[in-house]
Amino acid sequence: MTDQFAKKDQAWSARFSEPVSDLVKRYTASVFFDKRLAHVDILGSLAHAEMLAAQKIISDQDLADIRRGMACILAEIDSGQFEWLLDLEDVHLNIEKRLTELVGDAGKRLHTGRSRNDQVATDIRLYMRGAIDDILGLLKALRVALVDLAETHADTLLPGFTHMQVAQPVTFGHHMLAYVEMFGRDAERMADCRKRVNRLPLGSAALAGTTFPIDRERVAKTLGFDDVCHNSLDAVSDRDFAIEFCAAAALVMTHISRLSEELVIWMSPRVGFIDIADRFCTGSSIMPQKKNPDVPELARGKTGRVNGHLISLLTLMKGQPLAYNKDNQEDKEPLFDTVDTLVDTLRIFADMAGGIAVRPEAMRAAALQGYATATDLADYLVKKGLPFRDAHEAVAHAVRACEQKGCDLADLSLDELRQFSALIDTDVHAVLTLEGSVAARNHVGGTAPEQVRAAIRRLRAALG
Ligand code: ARG
Repeated sequence: MTDQFAKKDQAWSARFSEPVSDLVKRYTASVFFDKRLAHVDILGSLAHAEMLAAQKIISDQDLADIRRGMACILAEIDSGQFEWLLDLEDVHLNIEKRLTELVGDAGKRLHTGRSRNDQVATDIRLYMRGAIDDILGLLKALRVALVDLAETHADTLLPGFTHMQVAQPVTFGHHMLAYVEMFGRDAERMADCRKRVNRLPLGSAALAGTTFPIDRERVAKTLGFDDVCHNSLDAVSDRDFAIEFCAAAALVMTHISRLSEELVIWMSPRVGFIDIADRFCTGSSIMPQKKNPDVPELARGKTGRVNGHLISLLTLMKGQPLAYNKDNQEDKEPLFDTVDTLVDTLRIFADMAGGIAVRPEAMRAAALQGYATATDLADYLVKKGLPFRDAHEAVAHAVRACEQKGCDLADLSLDELRQFSALIDTDVHAVLTLEGSVAARNHVGGTAPEQVRAAIRRLRAALG
């Protein structure tokens, strides 16, 4: 790994009497992973330099030189020609050193009134703001795909479960909209987190601020931050915004994982409720008949690593006294991996939702087993005047009789049903059908197809 990094003098100079060992260099360097901050690092540096020139802390010529040098560095990075050096420790020092090579003293003046501590905090916030905006777009795409699926299946019936036992019939549209709600709250959490991410640490310098007459508001405006951070010690040291982001990401993955679990179960040939398009599945190297739901399984598995990253960051932070400590360098890999995992997962799921083939016959057949309309019969008796507990008891007897006969409640004749309550009349059979059961739950939040369609209209208006 070290081979790609040519030797260069350490950036922080003359104070040391012996060189750092190669192992320590590798141990303390972050350039392997923080070079992905290069673009936002340059963006931050340009805003800082522009402010320094406006405040007459550096000259206009220095600013022009810095801009010219940074344009060149950007081109080198984008074309893969930039030489990242391990000896220069991190992304910040690599870029600064190259700038100085390209433009001389102006490059050395860039760091006036700034420290890597407020620089890196700014970079992470800029990076995260971009990541959150991407994630918000992907959450929206996933929600639209699930709303489309719900619309196609607003009337499709399947058993709803509690304790994994058949409970009551529901519509598949309603089931899909449950996930649309979850991902909607996830989007709210991300958008809320963005507010706290979008504040500018720059100007805090190492920890206490700077002696130069800087204009922090100007830099904040240039970089699109809503405000500056109001305490320099806090600004350079806390990473609560990253922890908050990881918590929100862990919840997104948790919801993805719940959906994945259902997809895996539904695709099992024993259940057969759905099929997932071939492009999201793989076969077995030994069993020719297999088609495995790898994508949902992997997403379920990857939820573990994202949850782990949240714990990493919480643990990273908990022991740190004010202000900046090198521990914070360890925030990046968990954060980057969280973003990568989430972005890939959401992208795939938004696509996969459109590739789910629903098998309504299999769902319906399953809903007809397990006495899914037993509650409807109890409610029917209550509406005829029986107290609910007595109705519950009467239906329990009816279910037992069905079990012995090996039939469904709807298969019992009127005379047979009347043995359990004299209140039962000819109108009972409408209540015992799956369609009657779902249609009767016709209020906001209920599973009735009419409500599913109303919810879809509301969601479409909100999703734009
Ligand atoms: N690579 C460092 C980090 O990620 C940058 C800040 C280093 N500051 C310092 N004083 N050593 O946190």
